[in-house]
Amino acid sequence: MRRMRRTEALRQLVRETRLEPGQLVLPVFVCPGEGVRKPIGSMPGVANLSVDEAVKEAEAAAELGLGGLLLFGLPETKDEQATGAWDPAGIVQTALRALRQTAAAKSLVLIADVCLCEYTSHGHCGVVRQQGDAYSVANDPSLELLARTAVSLAQAGADIVAPSDMMDGRVAAIRKGLDAAALEETPILSYAAKFASAFYGPFREAADSAPQFGDRRSYQMDPANGREAMREIALDLDEGAEMILMKPGMPYLDVLHAARERFEVPMGVYQVSGEYSMLQAAFARGWLEPERTMLESLTGMRRAGADFIVTYFAKDAARLL
Ligand code: PBG
Repeated sequence: MRRMRRTEALRQLVRETRLEPGQLVLPVFVCPGEGVRKPIGSMPGVANLSVDEAVKEAEAAAELGLGGLLLFGLPETKDEQATGAWDPAGIVQTALRALRQTAAAKSLVLIADVCLCEYTSHGHCGVVRQQGDAYSVANDPSLELLARTAVSLAQAGADIVAPSDMMDGRVAAIRKGLDAAALEETPILSYAAKFASAFYGPFREAADSAPQFGDRRSYQMDPANGREAMREIALDLDEGAEMILMKPGMPYLDVLHAARERFEVPMGVYQVSGEYSMLQAAFARGWLEPERTMLESLTGMRRAGADFIVTYFAKDAARLL
């Protein structure tokens, strides 16, 4: 076996999996203000960006040949109805209109995350019903707000809408909403198999979206369930999703691989905040070699079956490729 491993030229010739900048999507957290670049403590190299800074980030991303951006928003105010999510003057809508004016938007796919958790006062991904001391996240009342959010983001210029809330029936509701608004050309990237993961911890600092009470286990998937993930994907495809996103990445590569074998649709994986933070922490201590570790973690996801990868390493990785 070693004859073909002798030189880099030989290894390169027989390499099975390739990683290209165009397969990488960079998450961007847009916040109010001007000239703002507020670093996220737990995610070195990642910052909340005001719209003007997000435009600069897009230009840098386009120059590096990245595939696209995934946009999240930090609204000025939060309320029970998640007004900031669907408001035409919302922070992500404003960013999308600005990004649409740039040359970068021609080569980047602008993907808008569709969820309510950054915009609700309680931090849950749907509408909360209080029953005495108990509460529940109400499924169907949330669908209407999610559809309204998706329509508003597509109208503002999103190429793709990406629901990450995990309410049942959201893909169908969003498709119906988009079609009714004459947005039948907007595709849906569904976070079909999204697990209730502790690896989202740093994101909740970045997006200021930690639930004020309870947790997300009544709507996100149990980390132990691989078969259930296949059902989630089948349902979302039936409801009209064009593409699916698997999440997190590294602890769930088996689920990604099983999905790849089973479904003939474009599939992405999200290397989430906690995966990024733990690698950065090890880099900072000199315990892991940054460049090789980063590329190996991304190559593993491609090998497992991802067509594209959402990663906070997108710019750093593209510089190396
Ligand atoms: C919104 C959302 C989350 C992430 C992406 N979209 C947080 C969550 O569900 O708690 C996590 C991304 C990351 O950790 O990088 N629902």
